Amino acid sequence: QTGRFTLDPGFTSTASCESKITYIDGDQGTLLYRGYPIEQLAEHGDFLESCYLLLYGELPTRAEKDDFVHRVTYHTMIHDQMSSFFKGYRRDAHPMAVMTGTVGALSSFYHDSTDISDPHLRMVASLRMIAKMPTIAAMAYKYHVGQPFVYPRNDLDYASNFLHMCFAVPCEDYKVNPVLARAMDRIFILHADHEQNASTSTVRLAGSSGANPFACIAAGIACLWGPSHGGANEAALNMLSEIGSVDRIPEYVARAKDKNDPFRLMGFGHRVYKNYDPRARIMQKTCHEVLAELGHQDDPLLEVAMELEKVALTDPYFVDKKLYPNIDFYSGITLRALGFPTTMFTVLFALARTVGWIAQWKEMIEDPSQRIGRPRQLYTGYAERDYQPIDQRR
Ligand code: SDX
Repeated sequence: QTGRFTLDPGFTSTASCESKITYIDGDQGTLLYRGYPIEQLAEHGDFLESCYLLLYGELPTRAEKDDFVHRVTYHTMIHDQMSSFFKGYRRDAHPMAVMTGTVGALSSFYHDSTDISDPHLRMVASLRMIAKMPTIAAMAYKYHVGQPFVYPRNDLDYASNFLHMCFAVPCEDYKVNPVLARAMDRIFILHADHEQNASTSTVRLAGSSGANPFACIAAGIACLWGPSHGGANEAALNMLSEIGSVDRIPEYVARAKDKNDPFRLMGFGHRVYKNYDPRARIMQKTCHEVLAELGHQDDPLLEVAMELEKVALTDPYFVDKKLYPNIDFYSGITLRALGFPTTMFTVLFALARTVGWIAQWKEMIEDPSQRIGRPRQLYTGYAERDYQPIDQRR
């Protein structure tokens, strides 16, 4: 039973499309992956199960899940020559710059799976992307902090393997904390897909020209980097750090209201949600769990975040504009507590969103009616006029 929703006549989008993957009701604060509420998937499922659901449209049976997990697990290594890629970057390069360049180059290593007309090769490319993104993200982090790369391990689950590749060092044994791994896995679920957001629309538009899936994902990573989009988790933590204490909140709230001040409350507001982002609630709960597990319940930034949320949710200015916390508001505090520097926050968003980009790209490629995207414009320039020789110009 697929619901058919007629678009509001006022609905405008440069890449409006039909999709069966994710449904958002911005007024209700509802988010469904293939009809399943995000709250239930985050509570009862795991990330690879959500990946299967987003890609194939149904929750996997036990046998289907075991097969999918096995196929992803055995694709986690990357071509060893790719490790020299990282060495071309400055050590202090932003990891999102590394991700954009490295993922874009994947097609030169895995060109055998870039024939998008072949369903089997399409799925091999999809699996490779989901499997290799944690490895590439962890290598970008290790390169950034000057530590040796840590290879993936097939005996660890997806989130544990990622944390191990990021935080293990050769000189001592590293045991992944299962509570933190579960939190990481849930954070991946929350970021997996979000219908036609800016980066997904970028991937669809790039894919509509027939570009290979690795290049399309690289385009999505580049778009996600912006502070108004995926870069907001890094910007939100930087904002909370700049505010520093509860008594400075009124100063920043006043700035957010000042039309002459470009400052915005990072992690607040959304193009679609005009109610609480359901992911933000789950992220806040996860934040408390992670801080409690680490004994950091008194993290001063959490106190600032909760007080800022309380002020914004009662201030008539924000209430009138229906500004609520979005997924990025609490994710920064959580990711920092997990051990990541702010520069890695959007990389983690891109890692998780890869499955959403791939699922949306696959849906578009498999639609026989799909054609190359071609957004139109409203021309507001000059009417036709004649060329003027340079000596006659004023
Ligand atoms: C993500 O699209 C997606 O689905 C994205 C995403 C995903 O999963 O892919 O959900 C991920 O990108 C979440 C959003 C992360 N970005 C931020 O947190 C950055 C801070 N937020 C804003 O920059 C802003 O809210 C946007 C960019 C998210 C939305 O910008 P819009 O479209 O201008 O917001 P709007 O139309 O709802 O704004 C209504 C009014 C405007 O004022 P007026 O021009 O009507 O006077 O509210 C104001 C805005 O200026 N406003 C804010 C504000 N967000 C909107 N004022 C202060 N602080 C804010 N955060």
